[in-house]
Amino acid sequence: MPITGNARLAGVMAWPVGHSLSPRLHNHWLNTMGIDGAYVPLPVRPADVEQAISMAGRMGFRGLNVTVPHKEAALKAVDEADDLATRIGAVNTIIYDTGGRSHGTNTDGFGFMENIRHKYTDWNFADGPAVVLGAGGAARAVVVALIDAGAPKILICNRTHERAVNLVNDLDGPLEAAPWEDRHDALHNINLLVNTTTLGMTGKDPLEISLDSLPEYSCVTDIVYAPLETRLLRAAHSRGNPTVDGIGMLLHQARPGFEAWFGQAPVVDDVLRLHVLAGAGLSDPGSDPGSDSGS
Ligand code: ATR
Repeated sequence: MPITGNARLAGVMAWPVGHSLSPRLHNHWLNTMGIDGAYVPLPVRPADVEQAISMAGRMGFRGLNVTVPHKEAALKAVDEADDLATRIGAVNTIIYDTGGRSHGTNTDGFGFMENIRHKYTDWNFADGPAVVLGAGGAARAVVVALIDAGAPKILICNRTHERAVNLVNDLDGPLEAAPWEDRHDALHNINLLVNTTTLGMTGKDPLEISLDSLPEYSCVTDIVYAPLETRLLRAAHSRGNPTVDGIGMLLHQARPGFEAWFGQAPVVDDVLRLHVLAGAGLSDPGSDPGSDSGS
């Protein structure tokens, strides 16, 4: 749809930004919903983040997504950050008010939860313990979301144990750090297993984990989405576990920002999923293992 002089503006700030799927995602919504708006890629160097965030509001942007490597810097750069972003230690979504002041939030945890709930609508995170593999930025967002959803215990296993311990100490909740070597045995009795490491991603080492002690009812999810069906998800699906692939987290985290900037609630459906996957050069041969609806 052609834009007019009244078009609402938003964009994604990253360095580099060329790999970002967000322009494809948001512009699909703008086009299908017939909204006079545009969502653009903004390649911003780390040294310029603070100024760029401040200027975007004064240039009439309704808001921004912020991604690697700027999420932590954005928390410091915004005029105001909400409690969620402060706890996660990172901002991924900025909303400018009419005076150009920036309000930062973080929708990564929302995206993570909605991705699972989209496929398993009755999934109850409070039903049992969770194991989170990894202790980076993505793990922080997942852990905060799990605390808020009432997970009774969250075990964090990370290669660098100190990082897992820091996460446990930073956040208020039923958290424990476990050595990386314990990841195989930590799975009995759990409700949810989440990989937030980069292991299993195309070009990276595989994730080595034995699922022998994992109950069959446990949900397994991977935030890696390239490939869409990671070895972890394939192994979990083949032994009968519910599984959720990683692309939906990206799709769902985009919803709150879009609604705030463009004034209408967008929908995550199979058409969007396929459109975004095609942009990433990924196909979806029904390969969300066990998927009945897709994300
Ligand atoms: P993000 O912010 O996207 O989560 P990150 O901070 O680089 O990215 O974190 C990547 C995660 O993958 C970390 O938990 C990292 O473990 P370390 O904290 O020990 O670095 C994990 N990771 C990366 N490569 C790994 C490997 N070969 N083995 C085990 N864990 C690995």
